[in-house]
Amino acid sequence: MSVPVSTEHEVRDIEKGAPPARFARGWHCLGLADSFKDGSPHEIDAFGTKLVVFQAQDSGELHVLNAYCPHMGGNLARGTIKGDTVSCPFHGWLWNGDGRCADIPYARRVPPRARTRSWTTLEENKQLFVWYDPEGAPPPEGVTIPRIEGVFDGQWSDWTWHTLRVEGSHCREIVDNVVDMAHFFYVHNSFPTYFKNVFEGHVATQYQATAPRGDMTADQTVSAQGDTRSVASYYGPSYMIVYLDMDVDEAGTTVETAMINCHYPVGPDSFVLMYGAIVKKLPGMTDAEAAEAAAQASQGLAAGFEQDIEIWRNKTRIDNPLLCDQDGPVYQLRRWYEQFYVDTADVEPAMTDRFEFEIDTERAVRVWQAEVDANLARQTAAER
Ligand code: FES
Ligand SMILES: [Fe+2]
Repeated sequence: MSVPVSTEHEVRDIEKGAPPARFARGWHCLGLADSFKDGSPHEIDAFGTKLVVFQAQDSGELHVLNAYCPHMGGNLARGTIKGDTVSCPFHGWLWNGDGRCADIPYARRVPPRARTRSWTTLEENKQLFVWYDPEGAPPPEGVTIPRIEGVFDGQWSDWTWHTLRVEGSHCREIVDNVVDMAHFFYVHNSFPTYFKNVFEGHVATQYQATAPRGDMTADQTVSAQGDTRSVASYYGPSYMIVYLDMDVDEAGTTVETAMINCHYPVGPDSFVLMYGAIVKKLPGMTDAEAAEAAAQASQGLAAGFEQDIEIWRNKTRIDNPLLCDQDGPVYQLRRWYEQFYVDTADVEPAMTDRFEFEIDTERAVRVWQAEVDANLARQTAAER
């Protein structure tokens, strides 16, 4: 048998690339809408700048402005809400939600150019979104955040919600997960048995089924309990809705969960990651029990993100991943993702055309089952 001789040019060198200098165009969730409705302005570090979110007292509407006051740079997020305006802590100028200066209490008149940037907002699913477009265009027709009916129909729990800041990684790392079947086994202790991706327009979807891992406990994996089926879609660059059904007992009880996995960029290599869950009440379930089930689902999400973050902290950015035949379509996903980082005029059909890819999981399932069986045998032996 001849052993292949590795010469220098046969070695695959990693092309690290650099994170994009701009931020993704699209709707970005800033958090649960109610969390901004406490009568105080809120400070958000996002898109390389600082924003202020405040609720107008009369209209009740949430507004987002650049936080730094164009007068002399005061931070409006440290100011106070007065009527439908936010008052700057530095010299008391009052700013409307549309970015106009409503009044300067000590001046005879407001300079005509006293305007600051007001961000386009949207409230959906009891969450607050801002539209970001470096070219300054409004959201195109049809590019919106779809409604999760369960949020409003009274049969589901309230949102759990968690926020954490990730430093030293570009948010592309988390989007890559959409196509990364194998990492669900190795990083998240889950057991994918079916895995398919569909990208079209501004939506990228992952269809997945998982089997329970008999060798894992509930705090090691979300899917320890039973078979799951999930549909997870990014609507734009940063907001993913996950619908997950889990069979929890022999009687055929299925728990339906809707989860959010979303983020907004802080700077070129930092972002704020947020996630939350709601659970549909089973017949006879009290509100408290539903809340408990949602908290449990959230716990699973939290564990999952900790596992991802641990990987990101220690990995390198890589622009030329070396893929094998049972990896998902990383390059096609990144091409889809690229549409949010180029000018609208430069969005190519290859970025938005429908693309489908189903991984043939046959070999992976066989190998992983053998690994699970070996772990179980070891565990049983250790218990004896
Ligand atoms: S800096 Fe805001 S009022 Fe002067
Ligand atoms: Fe992950």
